[in-house]
Amino acid sequence: MTGVNTGTDTNWFSARIIDWQRRYGRHGMPWQDTRDAYRVWLSEIMLQQTQVATALVYYPRFLARFPTLADLAAAPLEDVLALWSGMGYYSRARHLHACARAVMARFDGHFPTTAAQLQALSGIGRSTAAAIAVFCHGERAAILDGNVRRVLTRVFGIADDLSNAANERALWLRAEALLPRRDLERAMPAYTQGLMDLGATVCTRRNPTCAVCPLAGRCLAARNGHPECYPVKTRRAERRALAVWLLHATDEHERVWLTPRPARGIWARLYCLPEYGTRAELLAALAAPTRAHAVFRAPIAHALTHRDLSLHVVSVRLTSNNRLDGDSEGRWHAPSAWPALGLPAPIRRFLQAQAP
Ligand code: ADE
Ligand code: SF4
Repeated sequence: MTGVNTGTDTNWFSARIIDWQRRYGRHGMPWQDTRDAYRVWLSEIMLQQTQVATALVYYPRFLARFPTLADLAAAPLEDVLALWSGMGYYSRARHLHACARAVMARFDGHFPTTAAQLQALSGIGRSTAAAIAVFCHGERAAILDGNVRRVLTRVFGIADDLSNAANERALWLRAEALLPRRDLERAMPAYTQGLMDLGATVCTRRNPTCAVCPLAGRCLAARNGHPECYPVKTRRAERRALAVWLLHATDEHERVWLTPRPARGIWARLYCLPEYGTRAELLAALAAPTRAHAVFRAPIAHALTHRDLSLHVVSVRLTSNNRLDGDSEGRWHAPSAWPALGLPAPIRRFLQAQAP
């Protein structure tokens, strides 16, 4: 090899990732045929916590409704939440909307171009900022999402506790040292996409397929035979169990009483059945004859990031001239109106299962 072509001692890593990406990585995704920051940004926010297969459904639907950043910024948050409905992690949709408005107001509708500037925007963390700058401009910036964290700790046998800030910093430095050094416009997007795809499809959390991995020959975790042990688990806060009491009121037209949730907390700003803290509070809101015919549904289990919810739905029949006391924002919604509302996925499933 000539001196000109000899890279650093870390060059093998990016070279293997790029070569693998060309042959086996994901290609032809709708968010890959563009360098338009609006589209790249939207896809990265979706892909943070949503599988590619699901994003492939939501992404074109979202762009059909909001073809440009200006369209998104001009829309009410309610419409954005409605389109996000079913994907979960709704704070993404709220940040997305806030970010769109900020880019319109502060940058005249043009996303900033560097990872450092992007990171200052609502909902864009360090890794997402880097991904956008890489895919749009070929910036030499490192990503370190869950998939990449797994690949790096395994390949380099890093058993450090990553909840420790110094260890986390060290891993970022490692990620930066591994970046391609030449031909960045072409190499950076291929490398970044390859690292994501390798982590998602080969170096999986359980049962990684080391036999087909381009890094296997130099991977310490594969060599020691226990790749699933990386990254080393840090003690997580216990997920707390939370019982939620929900009133499912229908009227004689099979409409359902739905009300917007508060701006803070679980499912913020989504539409939902009215919530009560306890069974007693829920029952106290009902007139005696209504209460006598209440139907207590089997609890629905629903896991959120920090909570295990147990949804206790109580069904009652009211008439359309009833309004629910103390719920000035709620109103009756016919089944035909549900698809356009931002509803939490378990509530949508419940309503659809009950619908006539
Ligand atoms: N996760 C985050 N960004 C992604 C992307 N561009 N492709 C696949 N998975 C991703
Ligand atoms: Fe992951 Fe196995 Fe590849 Fe190592 S060899 S990076 S453990 S898939």
